[in-house]
Amino acid sequence: MKRRISFICNKNLVEAYVNPALTLLDFLRKNERLTGVKEGCREGDCGACSIMLGSIENNSLKYEVVNSCLFPIADADGCHVVTIEGINEIDLSPIQKSFINEGSTQCGFCTPGFIISLTCYLISGKQLNYADAIDSIGGNVCRCTGHAAIIRSVKSIMDSFINRNAGNEKCIDYLISKNYLPAYFKDIEIRLMNLKRQTVPEKLRNRLMIAGGTDLYVQRHDDLILEEEVDFIFNTGNKIYTENNSCFVEASATASDLGNSELLKNIFPGFEDFIKLFGSKPIRNRATIGGNIINASPIGDITSILLSLNSSLHITDGLNERILPLNEFYTGYKTFNLNSNEFIDKVSFKIPEGEYFFNYEKVSKRRHLDIASVNSSAFIKMNDGIIVEAKISGGGLAPIPLYLEKASSFLINKTATGNNLIASINIALDEVSPIDDVRGSAVYKKILFRQLLFAHFNKFFPEVITPEILI
Ligand SMILES: Cc1cc2nc3c(=O)[nH]c(=O)nc-3n(C[C@H](O)[C@H](O)[C@H](O)COP(=O)(O)OP(=O)(O)OC[C@H]3O[C@@H](n4cnc5c(N)ncnc54)[C@H](O)[C@@H]3O)c2cc1C
Ligand code: FES
Ligand code: FES
Repeated sequence: MKRRISFICNKNLVEAYVNPALTLLDFLRKNERLTGVKEGCREGDCGACSIMLGSIENNSLKYEVVNSCLFPIADADGCHVVTIEGINEIDLSPIQKSFINEGSTQCGFCTPGFIISLTCYLISGKQLNYADAIDSIGGNVCRCTGHAAIIRSVKSIMDSFINRNAGNEKCIDYLISKNYLPAYFKDIEIRLMNLKRQTVPEKLRNRLMIAGGTDLYVQRHDDLILEEEVDFIFNTGNKIYTENNSCFVEASATASDLGNSELLKNIFPGFEDFIKLFGSKPIRNRATIGGNIINASPIGDITSILLSLNSSLHITDGLNERILPLNEFYTGYKTFNLNSNEFIDKVSFKIPEGEYFFNYEKVSKRRHLDIASVNSSAFIKMNDGIIVEAKISGGGLAPIPLYLEKASSFLINKTATGNNLIASINIALDEVSPIDDVRGSAVYKKILFRQLLFAHFNKFFPEVITPEILI
């Protein structure tokens, strides 16, 4: 089941007739001999395989970093793939020079990944700042230099960009003029516009589907390569929109789409920061909400958030749609209510109005780039000092991502007094049944969950739930 895939690789057009599930990493290293793309963990953890992916979105060129080890070559169709070999033609780029000057590289295995991530950040066209530059290398790990020298490089690069705010196209011109990018980048937008995607999204899905691939390539890489037929869920069109007081999110929307959505940021202030707790930037750029729901991990971050928003799943077999509340979807550990010919098309939730609060909390062994030991989301709506809606979810506390029915409904028609909020926390603790595992003991997780509930209520009602209550 080979397919024809065409894309621009650095400055050359590549036309390949390949297994579409082949990882881009293997294609680049073995077919194109681009060995600057390194194979480290093959699990999305180290960033040694990072590449920049350019595509046309809303009629303009956009670049993002992805882990090529988890990326099916089918998704490169019609795109610009940039490896470290495509970043400079004659001289080293200022980022590479700064890595040398600051002693940020030793064996060099991780270095191409860091350079790619930072270059992609500079192309982003956003108001550049140091914190976001550091976030951009959150998915890159160096095993021998130590991160202090790399952080020094980031600082020196950012110092030369301070106060620079450029739109995408202007930004590319500027980066070319300063030798951060080679001149061929000037023509990429027009070349991509002329290079049509050969593969089109299909409506009927009876085969294994690869969305972002961030779960599938970690869990079933060999199966995917051998599988006779796979489908690909392409990221297309307007993925997050409103209709009749509801917000709709396509299942193919990625964690980055959620974090970048002005709509969601307006509805839930701070939403972008909640999403930053999910994996690393390259993982967020690929991980879809459909994949997160189907992964059915008890600690899925997006699933936890969607549960507290009382979301509904729009499930289809390509012809008919049925709508199912997310909190009725899971039937047991990794089992759910979905027929083999069905897939999730989109998710929707009602846009809240009036006075309401939303918060997401996650504790993991590392703050970033780690899955949660325990996570929790809470949504509360008030009317005249009375709680009229409450939805609390918790992850890592049961075999499924858990909606806390009793603790949530206890709060309805109550005032937000200390007694009521603490009573609801105690009810929530009775509703969960964590187990001992590598992420912590059952007792530890229960204590953690209690603290997360306090954190929600402290943010919502700081004058009632004060830090002193916890002591
Ligand atoms: C390094 C790393 C860090 C991670 N960090 C986090 C984290 O912090 N938090 C977290 O929650 N998860 C994390 N994950 C897990 C993973 O990224 C998420 O579960 C992600 O949302 C999966 O989406 P995907 O598009 O990559 O799924 P895929 O791997 O493409 O697919 C997963 C499953 O979902 C199915 N599927 C996908 N879309 C649909 C659909 N629309 N309808 C029906 N079935 C569908 C696929 O067929 C497959 O069975 C991490 C993974 C890695 C590798
Ligand atoms: S090889 Fe480690 S993230 Fe791809
Ligand atoms: S320089 Fe050796 S892993 Fe980073």
